[in-house]
Amino acid sequence: MSIEIKNLKHIYMPRTPYERLALDDVNLTIPQGKITAIAGHTGSGKSTLIQHLNGLLEPAEGQVLVDGVSVIGKKPENKKARRSVGMVFQYPEHQLFEETVAKDIAFGPRNYGCSEEDIQQRVKAAMDFVKLDYDTYKDRSPFQLSGGQMRRVAIAGVVALETPYLVLDEPTAGLDPVGREELMNGIVKLHKKKNNTVIMVSHSMDDIARFADHVIIMAHGRVLLEGTPAQVFSREDFIHQAGLEVPRVTAIVKALKAEGVAVATDVYNMEDAVKAIWQALAKKKAGGAGKC
Ligand SMILES: Nc1ncnc2c1ncn2[C@@H]1O[C@H](COP(=O)(O)OP(=O)(O)OP(=O)(O)O)[C@@H](O)[C@H]1O
Ligand SMILES: [Mg+2]
Repeated sequence: MSIEIKNLKHIYMPRTPYERLALDDVNLTIPQGKITAIAGHTGSGKSTLIQHLNGLLEPAEGQVLVDGVSVIGKKPENKKARRSVGMVFQYPEHQLFEETVAKDIAFGPRNYGCSEEDIQQRVKAAMDFVKLDYDTYKDRSPFQLSGGQMRRVAIAGVVALETPYLVLDEPTAGLDPVGREELMNGIVKLHKKKNNTVIMVSHSMDDIARFADHVIIMAHGRVLLEGTPAQVFSREDFIHQAGLEVPRVTAIVKALKAEGVAVATDVYNMEDAVKAIWQALAKKKAGGAGKC
């Protein structure tokens, strides 16, 4: 089972002078139990696309099926499909509203009718995943925290819903490097533990190359490219067409190759780049030794 997006079209403000076609015939299958990253230039339709995954927006044409069931509709099965997709919006900290951190995180599970015991356990587990110490932060006002800590509280509120699908719209935007790293590690840890399906919008090609199993590149409301990080980032022409760049390590090995270093260029993350550079150096040393 998975999320299937079929012939999806979205038009903002239809039949007005401001009409805007934001998604045009998008067809995708989001693989179950994997991390899928969505990238694309600003305005390419990423946020519009993900807001269709739990029925927040209604398609002009086409449909979104979660485990085979449409997210649009009033039947209990449609509601269940919508509820199985947890959504973290861009800048989710703007939506905090409760008096304490624990109450804010508990809001969703409480709304779903979970028992108090279950709620407390979910709040603790969610705070652990976003690296906020329960005893230190549970009674604090979310509005007295730093921006990065507020982001963690907001994400924990969605994590506490324990949905099989977790959608995040640029979760690390605006965080410092340590905050970004901790948050990404938390998302990956949660994914490994729960085997949930993660769909994440990201502007960082480095993060995508490191963490994603599947990549979707959007351009002008359409899917330009789709595949594994290696498949997608090997198409530098398409990546540039979408207004994006390849991961920084790929650019470095390509620059080395252009300078005459015999290094493999099909590397997209730091670990593989280090290996490729060592191999190139070892080859050069062996070649050099033979000549003396
Ligand atoms: N509420 C809205 N009303 C009208 N037009 C909108 C609305 N939201 C988005 N759009 C337009 O739809 C298109 C797609 O926007 P969307 O927010 O999905 O892009 P995005 O890829 O998420 O961009 P970003 O990287 O800046 O977040 C853009 O042209 C945008 O101006
Ligand atoms: Mg967006």
